[in-house]
Amino acid sequence: MNLPNMIEAKKRDKEVLIVNYDYSDVKIDSSLIGKKFFVRTYGCQMNEHDGEKIKGVLISQGLIECASLEESDLAILNTCAIRENAHDKVFGFMGLVKKMKESKPNLLLGICGCMAQEECVVNEIKSKYKYVDFVFGTHNLDNMINVINERVRSGKQNIEVYSILGNVCEGIPEKRESKYSAWVDIILGCDKFCTYCIVPYTRGTQRSRHYKYIISEVNNLKSLGYKEITLLGQNVNAYGKDLYDDYNLANLLSDVSNTGIERIRFVTSHPWDFTDEMVDVIAKCDNVMPYVHLPIQSGSNRILKLMGRKYTREEYLKLYNKIREKVKGVSITTDIIVGFPGETEEDFQYTLDIVNECKFDGAFTFVFSPREGTPAAKLNDNVSVNEKNKRLYKLNEIVNKYSNESNQKCVNSIMKCLVIGKSEKDNNKYMGYTENMKLVNIVSSIDVIGEIIDVRIDEAKSFSLNGTRIEDC
Ligand code: 5AD
Ligand code: SF4
Repeated sequence: MNLPNMIEAKKRDKEVLIVNYDYSDVKIDSSLIGKKFFVRTYGCQMNEHDGEKIKGVLISQGLIECASLEESDLAILNTCAIRENAHDKVFGFMGLVKKMKESKPNLLLGICGCMAQEECVVNEIKSKYKYVDFVFGTHNLDNMINVINERVRSGKQNIEVYSILGNVCEGIPEKRESKYSAWVDIILGCDKFCTYCIVPYTRGTQRSRHYKYIISEVNNLKSLGYKEITLLGQNVNAYGKDLYDDYNLANLLSDVSNTGIERIRFVTSHPWDFTDEMVDVIAKCDNVMPYVHLPIQSGSNRILKLMGRKYTREEYLKLYNKIREKVKGVSITTDIIVGFPGETEEDFQYTLDIVNECKFDGAFTFVFSPREGTPAAKLNDNVSVNEKNKRLYKLNEIVNKYSNESNQKCVNSIMKCLVIGKSEKDNNKYMGYTENMKLVNIVSSIDVIGEIIDVRIDEAKSFSLNGTRIEDC
């Protein structure tokens, strides 16, 4: 058993190890071969991609994926810790599994992901949730099979979570969810320590992957027919800082662009690490998509300072305007937190002002959620829940107005869309994304899944567009 520790997790271990996952040595307990597994993933794209690895490893060991908890012999919850509601969902689902175990006692339940890295959560699982069979963290996903085996061998709950392992593991099998659009990790962890954020503790030290592995992964995806890749990291703009003196995200984007893959995206960007050189590369490379997710978090300099964001509203605006001017047709979206401890009406007004000034194409808005172990959780919070919710409502009204305006501007234009599947709302339509990341429901007389097609935009909604394949107009 090995438990997480928030103080250890704060230490930055710069000894980066590149480990090649060798699964010829790893064998799952024979009792599980041919059994069915179910993985439920919560949270961000990094976690989604980890979910693809968990599935890939289990499949490589001879297990079979199934679509529901009811059918499964092994269930894994790949969790998110970013806000309290992410926690609540996981504990809710665990309750379901507990019930199911009454009639299916051999069902194995595992917890992994960001919640598994939280000391308070793991202590609770250890003392109150004995029916959880095993827990592993974000640093030892590559060792998952041994964690499961130990549980099977001992018959006891097995918790194996490390706080500063710091490996960058290459070659983990992956079961990709899409045949057209793929995630590619470029940097793990984060060193920024924004005062509200749990990620630097749950995901550890900032560690870049070697660019040669990234380029070869992209080349491989291209040869498999992938049209789009998304370079992933908590802060992609810090790419390379821990590994190289003279190779950064601008170099990487340029090299990935040279592979000739049709679409390249990248998330998430921290304004602090966004250089002019990066803006230029995004503007210059046709296959780097004109879409930037640039979290601002607050428009008040006082709150930005308390958040430890390391930029002012003026610096953010300068970068924002530079990207708008240089990158043709760019969409810029953001993240905003309301109700940070001590946020006054005046601070909140600064946030509304900057939203009115930037007119973001879209924004993800959140009420501050205190995360145990982070500095902001210790701040005196005198803003009532009611007030926080009121602020969120007011902010959303403005955010939605601009997102609608941004969509309205697309009506009657012809936009290139990568079609990723059938529309979720209407099974007779298709669903795709424009270059600047707008969701379009598309009328087409033929199956266009997996293709990049020209679409005439007929109608705009607040969060999506409706359009028609140009040949069907
Ligand atoms: N409370 C509320 N929102 C948070 N985020 C991160 N941590 C918290 C928190 N403690 C938001 C930020 C971040 C996004 C992924 O989640 O806006 O950019
Ligand atoms: Fe959630 Fe952050 Fe972990 Fe992603 S990295 S799963 S957003 S806590």
